[in-house]
Amino acid sequence: MNPFKFGNPVEGEYYLARPELDNTVCHFLSNRIHVVLMGPRRFGKTSFVLNLFQKMERQGYACLFVDIFNIISHHDFLHQILRAINAKKSWVETAKNWLSNWRPKLSADVDSHSGQTSFGLGIDRAPEKDIKEMIQDVFVGLESLGRKVILVIDEFQKITEMDDQGWLEATLRTHMQQLKNTSFLLTGSRKSLISDMLNNSSRPLYRSCQLIDFPSFGDEFVDWIVQRFNDAGILIEKEAVVHLKKTVHDIPNYVQMVCFHLVAEGYTDIGSKEVNEVLKKVVGQNVHTYQNQLNSLSTLQQRVLRLAAQEGKQIFSKEFLKKYEIPSAPALASSIRALKKKGILDEEGTSRGTVIFDDPLFAIWLRELFEVDMALCSKHD
Ligand SMILES: Nc1ncnc2c1ncn2[C@@H]1O[C@H](COP(=O)(O)OP(=O)(O)O)[C@@H](O)[C@H]1O
Ligand SMILES: [Mg+2]
Repeated sequence: MNPFKFGNPVEGEYYLARPELDNTVCHFLSNRIHVVLMGPRRFGKTSFVLNLFQKMERQGYACLFVDIFNIISHHDFLHQILRAINAKKSWVETAKNWLSNWRPKLSADVDSHSGQTSFGLGIDRAPEKDIKEMIQDVFVGLESLGRKVILVIDEFQKITEMDDQGWLEATLRTHMQQLKNTSFLLTGSRKSLISDMLNNSSRPLYRSCQLIDFPSFGDEFVDWIVQRFNDAGILIEKEAVVHLKKTVHDIPNYVQMVCFHLVAEGYTDIGSKEVNEVLKKVVGQNVHTYQNQLNSLSTLQQRVLRLAAQEGKQIFSKEFLKKYEIPSAPALASSIRALKKKGILDEEGTSRGTVIFDDPLFAIWLRELFEVDMALCSKHD
């Protein structure tokens, strides 16, 4: 068995605990302070939340996990909440009571295969007005799920992308205030979007939550990785893992991905050289995707990406604008907005001019491309 996993949330031996963060988040939630965990994609938010869940369930909390990453409508949102309720038999029983007024709209259906009762099978045909009412009902119903309820909404910034004049965002706020037994734990990956949601006084969620910047792992993660290799009978220099972690901008997903490949390739004694070889290979596997992504952008956006990949910080400096042939600061700003919208880049909430790539391997590929170009240019000179 390969000791590394990537792509999906991890648990058990594949998961390195974050006891401090556990305590912090747990403390807020148990005092009914809603929490927003904000961090880049693939940083480990979902894994963390699922892990915390199990802990809090043992402490008597009823925990509902709702993933809304792929929703595009209120209907989808409702569907995902009902799915979370369906995960527990006892909740289905409770929910049957408080949702009894839905009878005309839908019923708690019995799945003909498993014989289990589940909700939501009838919502596909419900009109938008009913869907909105049902979402309200479900929130109100959380009161009866138990004395202590935690509702997690994973990737919650999606609610802002709903074309509903802020209805869902406002609805969420209302219930956050009214439900006396429920603490909300929201996670999100789009920093700039989330900062605006929470810090803009005209938005419904203004100052409604404790915002926590999801911390990156420190040295303990490096030691853990080394140990995982050793347990599998493979030697690796600590420095090589430090180098890898830095190269992929501290994103644990990519650390585990490269380690997975190192094991799969059969390396038994690993240093930075071997790490670089495998990194190159993994980047190489994505060349088509990266090429297509790059080709779909305007020339200006391509230049901006190069600037971001090469420099990353203080990208608005005059020197860089000149070097990367970007006509003006406003032009740069609007390109960054476009690239953020496409989910390629995000800006660090605090310091203007610092950008991060959603996919650090894309940045590595761009840097390589740029180096080749530069080498060619200087040959011509
Ligand atoms: N606590 C952790 N210990 C070890 N690996 C982790 C941890 N958290 C995340 N990872 C790695 O990151 C990947 C993505 O984690 P995930 O929880 O899905 O991130 P996010 O929800 O932030 O996108 C996992 O597949 C795993 O490889
Ligand atoms: Mg996630």
